[in-house]
Amino acid sequence: MSSLIPEANIPISITNRSKNPLNHIETTLKEEVIGQSSAIGAILKSLLRASTGFRNTDRPIATLFFSGPSGVGKTETVRALAKALHNNPKACIKVDCSEFTESHTISKLIGSPPGYIGSDLPAVLDKQEIEGRNWNIVLFDEIEKGHASLHNLLLQIMDEGVVTLSRKGKGDNGKVDFSSTLLVMTSNVGSRKVSEVLEDQAIGFKKKDNLQELTQLVNQEVQKEIEKTFSPEFRNRVSDFVIFHPLAHDSLLQVLEKYLKQVGSRCASKGFAIHLTDRTKEYLIQKGTDINLGARPLLHLVEKELEARIAEYFAMGEIQAGDYIVCDLEKNEIVFKRAERVSVSVKADFSTLGGNFRSI
Ligand SMILES: Nc1ncnc2c1ncn2[C@@H]1O[C@H](COP(=O)(O)OP(=O)(O)OP(=O)(O)O)[C@@H](O)[C@H]1O
Ligand SMILES: [Mg+2]
Repeated sequence: MSSLIPEANIPISITNRSKNPLNHIETTLKEEVIGQSSAIGAILKSLLRASTGFRNTDRPIATLFFSGPSGVGKTETVRALAKALHNNPKACIKVDCSEFTESHTISKLIGSPPGYIGSDLPAVLDKQEIEGRNWNIVLFDEIEKGHASLHNLLLQIMDEGVVTLSRKGKGDNGKVDFSSTLLVMTSNVGSRKVSEVLEDQAIGFKKKDNLQELTQLVNQEVQKEIEKTFSPEFRNRVSDFVIFHPLAHDSLLQVLEKYLKQVGSRCASKGFAIHLTDRTKEYLIQKGTDINLGARPLLHLVEKELEARIAEYFAMGEIQAGDYIVCDLEKNEIVFKRAERVSVSVKADFSTLGGNFRSI
């Protein structure tokens, strides 16, 4: 070896993870997004790479493509990212691609030229909004539903980091700069295949006991579908494909606990407490989740079968401040029981309440 080139024999590896500058993002994502650790890991790697400046600064900070079945946390992850980056889960510019299924609708995105129909309407891709904040999140939701011209527009954003609007604003050149934005696209592509794989699992056909093996199978199926649906030039411009997986039972239970915490705090604000038995939780999970819709119907079920009924009992005075309510399951229906009311002068100790409940 030439004497000018120093010998490099110290292997480099990450020894201290606490030095990670994105620790706060990691904490928020892990708090908010349940059971998607491999997706979170992929996002963090991509953001870490982008944050160090090892990137083409004419393009978006990163372009993330989230795919996977419905109701498993893709949009929730975007909300968590917005919370971590901007302290506000709603701080995100969202383009619903299902509204742009025909070529002429694209003019809504970039505005119509002067004199054309809609020229008085503002462009969805608003220059001030997009450039207004560093690390602004721009979300293109359900991109497979968008027209080919929308895909071309996305190619342009990924490639050049700029979109030219049909109208110039006062004192600008009509170009919207995406170089300080984090571009996120979501897609359900491949989710039908994933459902098929999972249904095969459920009936024991080609059963894989190893979760890692199942995860790999899901990844392969989604990747194949992505390759079928999106052109190589599109795929090559995406920084990272992040695959979300169907939620396991434990994760669904955690999502339910998250909703119950919210219901619990609303009850607490009215001065009473609720408790759900395990079989009631199991009932909600069985009834409120679906292989094709993930956790999506669960919130609706909690609102309908729990919160709405509690609100009604509260309005009618059947539940009052100071009550301790147990929600149990009888004959496949949720029933509400109240602990015997205690005099306000006596300090209630609910841990000793045994089975002393009255039906409401
Ligand atoms: N992994 C998860 N962590 C936390 N909450 C989740 C998760 N998955 C689903 N949820 C809950 O279910 C609801 C639906 O999830 P979300 O909106 O993220 O679905 P999605 O994956 O974007 O589905 P779609 O493809 O239909 O848009 C969320 O509001 C959230 O409360
Ligand atoms: Mg979504």
